[in-house]
Amino acid sequence: PTAERTKIFKLRDFIGKRVKVYGWCHTVRRQATLAFLILRDGTGFVQAILSGRLTQTLNAINLKDESTVCVYGTIVEDERAAHMGIELQADYWELMGESPGLPINQDANVDTQLDERHLVHRGQKASAHMKVRSIVTQCFRDHFFSKHYHEVCPPTLVQTQVEGGSTLFQLKFFDEDAFLTQSSQLYLETMLPSLGDVFCIAQSYRAEKSLTQRHLAEYTHIEAERAFIDFEDLLQTVEELIADVTQRVFDKCGDLIRLCNPEADKILEVVTKNRPFKRMTYAECIKFCNEHNIYKDPKTEEHFKHGDDITDAPERQMLQIIGVPVLMIKFPLEMKAFYAKKCADDLELTETVDVLVPGVGEIIGSSMRVDNYQELLEGFEREGIDPKSYYWYIDQRKFGTTSHGGYGLGLERYLMWLLKLPSVKQACLYPRLMYRCKP
Ligand code: 4AD
Ligand code: MG
Repeated sequence: PTAERTKIFKLRDFIGKRVKVYGWCHTVRRQATLAFLILRDGTGFVQAILSGRLTQTLNAINLKDESTVCVYGTIVEDERAAHMGIELQADYWELMGESPGLPINQDANVDTQLDERHLVHRGQKASAHMKVRSIVTQCFRDHFFSKHYHEVCPPTLVQTQVEGGSTLFQLKFFDEDAFLTQSSQLYLETMLPSLGDVFCIAQSYRAEKSLTQRHLAEYTHIEAERAFIDFEDLLQTVEELIADVTQRVFDKCGDLIRLCNPEADKILEVVTKNRPFKRMTYAECIKFCNEHNIYKDPKTEEHFKHGDDITDAPERQMLQIIGVPVLMIKFPLEMKAFYAKKCADDLELTETVDVLVPGVGEIIGSSMRVDNYQELLEGFEREGIDPKSYYWYIDQRKFGTTSHGGYGLGLERYLMWLLKLPSVKQACLYPRLMYRCKP
């Protein structure tokens, strides 16, 4: 037998040749004197055909799904073959690891599926989601590097908050109090004078007590920060991010995306052709909700007032009607964190933007940052935060401040939109939610 292993995605290069393939038996199907194994190795699927004497050994051990095997044989072309138009005509095989079959019921309830997620990942659907996720992550990096950003890896054990105290996970860091980070934004800001435009792809944590389709307790946060820009530049930056990354992802794995979401091409079209994106101020969104009977609380049919947060459900109702991505801009100052910069022409409003998309709602939170030392201290005061632990952040306003801004995008929310997933859970390797910290 040949010694070298060939990965499945490469097999088309070996038509007429003998190969050695390792894989998991995705399915095992038998006939009287034939057996068909769909092999899976993470790079693709291929059908191996065993005949004659080879099926006797297979029947003898009663080979089941998910067993691992090594198969030797010849690659033959067959247009009708479901995978890559080729088949592997086996002449020898070995069992590596036995399996009793896969005990996963595709229709099991969500909780059971999450308990068994380590096995669910072997399915075609879940593995397609994780493949797209890997490619999407690469495309975000490609986007940033093509624009000459530098990547950094900030710590996730911190002693400062970014997005309000109510969603902080607290822990003991040796003898001191610490938190799990909610956002790496403040650290990115400190790197502007060192590296210029920067980004990071890091885990963020939110002690979210609401169980919604789009909230996780731990998520992958793609954040970037840019110096010497103004609010209009920032709006164009987030729009360009979505359009460029989505185009890159389709270029790399359009077929896989269409397999997961047959309507995916509409997304590509809307982000690349419908530019500039629709813009609505926070005030216009409140008005829109009230005019379209989108209620703050559907039970009491209470209307929104200025200063109310447009939460999960009403936000998605709004986007359902609008049908295209929206840049929601200029939130009231009292709704935003200490770092949000005020609008020059209305000090009650901020230079902030959320990117909202149909089916999900908010996928990006973004703002220009307060760049004035005194104003920053007022921001801490307004939020009741003791500025002492923020000395390193405040120093940025003392040592050569500049107009700057940035954003954070939730990777799982982007994937939920792109793949039309029922929730962010399906976009996660092992989701962390209230009451779920396993597997
Ligand atoms: O809007 P957020 O809270 O903004 C920030 O954290 C800023 N400091 C980011 C920045 O400017 N660098 O969060 C940003 C994004 C949201 O738009 C959403 O996509 C995602 O992070 N996100 C969550 N995703 C999943 N589960 C949660 N609990 C999330 N909370 C926020
Ligand atoms: Mg937000």
